[in-house]
Amino acid sequence: MTERVVLAYSGGLDTSVCIGWLAEETGAEVIAVAVDVGQGGEDLDVIRKRALACGAVEAEVVDAKDEFADAYCLPAIKANALYMDRYPLVSALSRPAIVKHLVAAAGRYGAGAVAHGCTGKGNDQVRFEAGVSALAPDLTCLAPVRDYAMTRDRAIAFAEKAGLPIATTRKSPFSIDQNVFGRAVETGFLEDIWNAPTEDVYAYTRDPAVAREADEVVVSFEHGAPVALDGAPVTVLQAISRLNERAGAQGVGRIDLVEDRLVGIKSREVYEAPGAIALITAHQELENVTVERELARYKRGVEQRWGELVYDGLWFSPLKRALDGFVEEANRSVSGEVRMTLHGGRAVVTGRRSEQSLYDFDLATYDTGDTFDQSLSKGFIELFGMSSRIAGQRDLAGRA
Ligand code: ARG
Repeated sequence: MTERVVLAYSGGLDTSVCIGWLAEETGAEVIAVAVDVGQGGEDLDVIRKRALACGAVEAEVVDAKDEFADAYCLPAIKANALYMDRYPLVSALSRPAIVKHLVAAAGRYGAGAVAHGCTGKGNDQVRFEAGVSALAPDLTCLAPVRDYAMTRDRAIAFAEKAGLPIATTRKSPFSIDQNVFGRAVETGFLEDIWNAPTEDVYAYTRDPAVAREADEVVVSFEHGAPVALDGAPVTVLQAISRLNERAGAQGVGRIDLVEDRLVGIKSREVYEAPGAIALITAHQELENVTVERELARYKRGVEQRWGELVYDGLWFSPLKRALDGFVEEANRSVSGEVRMTLHGGRAVVTGRRSEQSLYDFDLATYDTGDTFDQSLSKGFIELFGMSSRIAGQRDLAGRA
């Protein structure tokens, strides 16, 4: 029986060439699977037909937009996940979503291997292969660009020689990865980290410095999930995409970051994630109102670890799964509404209300009606500060 390989197919030059290249290197039949996580661009049926024209024996396109939003972006919102405090994990979230469909396709077509078009320098190769090995330990992973030295020049030569129906001229000097949760842009002049990004780097956001009227939005959450915008019910996918439009129009969510890659190098990436940043900002503030102090403090550490695990490609790992349980439980009371002004590149919270609110006006007020018994504070501080006072006395005596 001929061996079969399932290839993660994007429709671009590299993965189009991968089809024939894999077939030549391995003698296997190639099945192309394109997963739609809201990357936009070309019609999916065009992509499917191109895969067949490039020599795939089968080609599938999977609409995974809602699944990506519900099962990957939503947990990230609940975890307020920002790698290095800034990057909302756009690409890192999409890879496990794609992996799941590759593995399922491998099962359906009886394939023994899964292939991707990543280079050997990035995080995405790790996310694909660690993901595949967690879900299907018996599948082999192939990476033609990395393992068969499929450089860009050789890819172009291959495509031209084989007459593949794909453009071999690069329209953009950048390497771009995008989905509904955001957009990542690297290479070209951005590799000089002193160079400022120019406006043509951006596609999801408008220049925040240009004067325009502010927008105001009310986001409703139930158990940490966005469920309505300005009172109109939305799915998670709709919440993200509509806020991509509205927050993007105000220049919200531009991020220029030198980040620590898992492979050990620092690299510069420019992101834009207007919907993600707006939703995380709102969600974080609703947590401030509804989550008890000790749980909230502990959750911040969990959020950071969760983000690192996901960045590092360990989406399907036991620790990530266990932390998901914690994050889910911590979001139990995160229901209510947050009002934000979107303007000048920022999403600024201006109001919050919740039936689960722990904010007690009578305890917080400095006006009449104050129910907080200030006389209790004196004794509280006496005991609370006791151990540092004893230590202070000892240290001062030692110095005398
Ligand atoms: N640096 C980001 C990450 O590792 C994005 C990777 C893909 N970026 C790109 N421009 N192709 O998650």
